[in-house]
Amino acid sequence: MHAPLTSAILAVLVSAALALNQPPAPAGRPYTEVHEIPAGGTIVHVGRDIHLLAANGTILHVSVNVKLATTPATPPEHTGWITYANWLNTSPSPISVFNTSWTVPAAPSNYDGQTIFLFNAIEPGAGDAIIQPVLQYGPSAAGGDAYWAVATWYLYGPDVFHTPLLPVDVGQTLRGMISLLGQSGGTYDYNSQFTNIEGTSLSVTGAEQMAWATVTLEAYEITSSSDYPPGASSFYEISFAFSGLAPQVHWEVVNDEDDGLSTVVNSDGSLFGVVTLTY
Ligand SMILES: *[C@@H]1O[C@H](CO)[C@@H](O)[C@H](O)[C@H]1NC(C)=O
Ligand SMILES: *[C@@H]1O[C@H](CO)[C@@H](O)[C@H](O)[C@H]1NC(C)=O
Repeated sequence: MHAPLTSAILAVLVSAALALNQPPAPAGRPYTEVHEIPAGGTIVHVGRDIHLLAANGTILHVSVNVKLATTPATPPEHTGWITYANWLNTSPSPISVFNTSWTVPAAPSNYDGQTIFLFNAIEPGAGDAIIQPVLQYGPSAAGGDAYWAVATWYLYGPDVFHTPLLPVDVGQTLRGMISLLGQSGGTYDYNSQFTNIEGTSLSVTGAEQMAWATVTLEAYEITSSSDYPPGASSFYEISFAFSGLAPQVHWEVVNDEDDGLSTVVNSDGSLFGVVTLTY
């Protein structure tokens, strides 16, 4: 049996992880374990633990479910989230679908090992978990180098789960979807995937409700503006569905004014929203 990690042990693990200079995972937090999800595999919260199951139901890995309640999520400004739009659903109707499309940008003109993540995501209001279909350039905990690639991620406390990293082409359209598959007894089952890319589907059972929606540019090891792609990226066809009466959706933005990166809401609301991030 695994013993629950105390916050003291966790602090040691987290500082050990930071000292190792880990490749980033797209949630701006240190992690202790990275698990690639095999085809058809799934993630299940079971009591205190998180099980990674093979397609045939065999348990491949058990992680101790360390909720980082004693270590609040670092504010996004300090985590590598550069500029983003966000909306917190405080209504009684859980988000049941959060879709958006975007296009794989041109490669940055300079590559010196920087990492760029572009994604839509939802998190619990407390920010201690995240589910997200992610476009990346450069290295991450899933692999990668000087090319664009996609994977779907679920992060919970110090655990990182991701689908295999798949290269994509400049100009390719990405359709990221996060959907609620079901809910019971205060727990929620989610799926996330690129609906137009095979092998990116990730399901998690027994999770917390995810209420904070974002479209985000996250980056690490940026040394000059040419480490970013040229121009701007738009997330378009941003659409929500709800389990219950639909609330009003209103996007707020956070910019990195010092570095001239900004997010603009071109079209607000719950259907066919458009948000543009300028590098
Ligand atoms: C189930 O899948 C795992 C991982 O692919 C494999 O190692 C195991 O042999 C399979 N078990 C059965 C009973 O098919
Ligand atoms: C989300 O995308 C899926 C797959 O393309 C589609 O079937 C569904 O209708 C979309 N839902 C919303 C609310 O946009």
